[in-house]
Amino acid sequence: MLKDSFNRSHDYLRISLSDQCNFRCLYCMPDEQMEFKPAAHLMSADEVVHLAEIFIAQGIRKIRLTGGEPLVRKDAKEIIERLAKYPIELSLTSNGVFIDKFINSLVTAGVHSINISLDTLDPIKFKSITQRDVFDKVWSNVKLLLQHQIHVKVNCVVMKGINENEIAAFVDLTKDLPLHIRFIEFMPFTGNDWNKNKVFTHSEILAEIEKEFFFIKLQDAKHDTAKKYQVQGHKGTFAVITTMSEPFCSDCNRLRLTADGKLKNCLFSAEESDLLNQLRAGKDILPLIQQSVLNKKMSQGGQFSDTFSDTDPLKLINRSMIDIGG
Ligand code: 5AD
Ligand code: SF4
Repeated sequence: MLKDSFNRSHDYLRISLSDQCNFRCLYCMPDEQMEFKPAAHLMSADEVVHLAEIFIAQGIRKIRLTGGEPLVRKDAKEIIERLAKYPIELSLTSNGVFIDKFINSLVTAGVHSINISLDTLDPIKFKSITQRDVFDKVWSNVKLLLQHQIHVKVNCVVMKGINENEIAAFVDLTKDLPLHIRFIEFMPFTGNDWNKNKVFTHSEILAEIEKEFFFIKLQDAKHDTAKKYQVQGHKGTFAVITTMSEPFCSDCNRLRLTADGKLKNCLFSAEESDLLNQLRAGKDILPLIQQSVLNKKMSQGGQFSDTFSDTDPLKLINRSMIDIGG
């Protein structure tokens, strides 16, 4: 088991398959032209599987594939199918646009749950947030996943002045569709122009929903990052990921591997451990992994102030979100 110095056990690994994406979401990509890493710097399919095996031997029981967009990788199918053979819960976070091309592999691989990023239900706003005019495609793919009985969580990053007026409409979707909407408080990453005034908090989100619905709190599972709720009688649920206003680090069980094979012990860690190059050099990487886990800070990579409004985004040492991999 990978235990840190606060006695937290880590059994959940998020692997980024690509630092590239076919969308340009404003909260994720830096303003300047993105420079993607040459393919040789990224983990090959064999290296992804080899690294995953090392982590699984250390007690990892859940792997989520992320990006960038994981499905832009030519060998994404192969990786999904190979990882599906291990005794883990395998899932995926995607922007949704290629889901129809992968649906058979996802079903065959037994992927039961997929997170789709979708921040608006308005096709025009969708285009202005992502720079791509493909709302209809993403929405039809959400429905396709539901038709295949896959559990769909919709990740909606709430940004003040951009989409907080759609919160109730997202909750309304849960009436007839078994969708699980997750409102995410806007987080600061390199180049995403974050400031505290753009954060729409947990309590503000609930206040917005209370105007139209009566809802109840659901029991959260251990290690859940989302606080779950449901409107009585609705098929789906909604939740809030309160990273900024109420961090949930004390129970964290997550590690991240970037597409270039660096281990991040936290989404906000400044420190990274270069597993890929050590692996390529024929070294035993287990001590590196164990040391990285031991170095994990108690909360938010040790980089945030107690209240998020005192956090200076320019002082944070990190990557852009697309480069970390969700
Ligand atoms: N703040 C909050 N959530 C973000 N995501 C990407 N960037 C940010 C941000 N700045 C979310 C996306 C994606 C998930 C992996 O992370 O919605 O679904
Ligand atoms: Fe791509 Fe997801 Fe980032 Fe949007 S949030 S640019 S879909 S990786």
